[in-house]
Amino acid sequence: MKILVINGPNLNMLGIREPDIYGKSTYADLCKMIEEHCAEKGVEVEIYQSNYEGDLVTKIQKALGVFDGIVINPAAYTHTSVALLDALKAVAIRAVEVHISDVSKREGFRSISFVREYCEKTIAGHGFAGYLEAIDALLAPPAEMRA
Ligand code: DQA
Repeated sequence: MKILVINGPNLNMLGIREPDIYGKSTYADLCKMIEEHCAEKGVEVEIYQSNYEGDLVTKIQKALGVFDGIVINPAAYTHTSVALLDALKAVAIRAVEVHISDVSKREGFRSISFVREYCEKTIAGHGFAGYLEAIDALLAPPAEMRA
């Protein structure tokens, strides 16, 4: 099992940006947590972050034939990007959406998610642990294969 974790703009600023919302742990802490979890579960993982929408689209396209699952926190592009939704649909790789904060309890525009239409699950408001839950969700068989 090979999982790609994709993080959108400003997530490289974790630990510095709005600590009251995102916490004091850094992006490096997040990556370490994900890598340790994946090592425990015997999952191969690549973690990718970009502040550029096109780079995120290209990374999803290049995942075709390489990765079995995608965990994606598109950050601000969640609320604006049809391109990311289309890229996920194009590669048709299983995907779970993650948000560190509870987007449903913040500004109204954060309740909109374009990628949600494709993702099999959205995990929001569970902090960094949400990424681990998303990985575990991808380790379970897809809904259509469950009784
Ligand atoms: C976020 C929520 C988004 O609204 C915001 O733009 C982010 C991070 C989250 O993880 O809670 O950058 O995706």
